[in-house]
Amino acid sequence: MTIQKITAKEVAKMVLHNEELCILDVRNESDFKDWKIEGNSVEIINIPYFDLLDDISPALESIPDGKNVIVVCAKEGSSIFVAEQIAEAGRSNVFYLEGGMKSWSEYLEPVRVADLSGGGELYQFVRIGKGCLSYMVISNGEAAIIDTSRMIDQYEQFMQEKGVKLLHTIDTHLHADHISGGRALAQKYGATYLLPPKDATEVTFDYEKLEEGKDIYVGNETIKVQPIYSPGHTIGSTSFIIDNKYLLTGDILFVESIGRPDLAGLAEDWVGDLRETLYSRYKDLSEALIVLPAHFGKGTELGERGLVSGRLGALYKENPGLNIQNEGEFRKIVTENLPPQPNSYQEIRQTNMGKINPNKEEQREMEIGPNRCAVHDK
Ligand SMILES: [Fe+2]
Repeated sequence: MTIQKITAKEVAKMVLHNEELCILDVRNESDFKDWKIEGNSVEIINIPYFDLLDDISPALESIPDGKNVIVVCAKEGSSIFVAEQIAEAGRSNVFYLEGGMKSWSEYLEPVRVADLSGGGELYQFVRIGKGCLSYMVISNGEAAIIDTSRMIDQYEQFMQEKGVKLLHTIDTHLHADHISGGRALAQKYGATYLLPPKDATEVTFDYEKLEEGKDIYVGNETIKVQPIYSPGHTIGSTSFIIDNKYLLTGDILFVESIGRPDLAGLAEDWVGDLRETLYSRYKDLSEALIVLPAHFGKGTELGERGLVSGRLGALYKENPGLNIQNEGEFRKIVTENLPPQPNSYQEIRQTNMGKINPNKEEQREMEIGPNRCAVHDK
């Protein structure tokens, strides 16, 4: 019996298309509890590698008969060992995840959001392993990317396939949960890197100021990207209305929850801004806008084809974070009992400010784990 490898891309497609899959995760319990492959159609079992070293039978007993099984570990090594033992015991259709959870954390699936005016297109890049979302606006041979992840080669490949040239990379705020690829990608292509100045007071590099009133255009002026100052997650947080139809909310508003003030120490200061943005600024916008956030938390937020979106009007009705009428209660919910800060968030912020320059492997390590940007985290 031989085992087969499966890539993060193939697993992501199965998850996003709700295909049934059975996963045996052999990492230790605490890593598994912290972060794992999730999806509506995913059946997942955790048996640590060390419990299978001498005897594979606990795995054989747990895997449903006749089903394909994908064995997963942190990097790949132990999953190959376990998969081989399972196959040797006579089971067929045994796979292992190539590159393990590291690859899973780094894969981006481009999901088409819609056509934009004048033949333009809008794509959402779903980083399914981490819950981060980034966006690419394409029009007339030009592109802008919003909230670029550090895996810039995946955007480069996409731009090449589309035959477009990069004009701008834009960050909705100074990120604390992932390392931005915006600066590196802009540098490589001579594009401009835009960042909200209020979040950039400590940055060590030149950047273009992202400000409300200074609209950005893509594709020979066909697509308008309109910055809306929307503080609360950070003091500089800025949203965008794209092509008068889509509202990119960054980490302020998600489909099923709301953002949290990003740093525990400043939560008290920023909570008023957050309320003002969610209950007043956004309220003044058209209810027909389609909200496209920078994160998703739960599998239930993934819609058709994996697209994460919702009508602003519907979110005002259904999102619990937009329905806390009492200001004191709101203050309490967004400042108390918050989930832990993202892993290595201080180092990630310093990297995004250009103060430290970790190598690729260190950057990977810093980003391992789930994002914890929402108030209502699991
Ligand atoms: Fe954030």
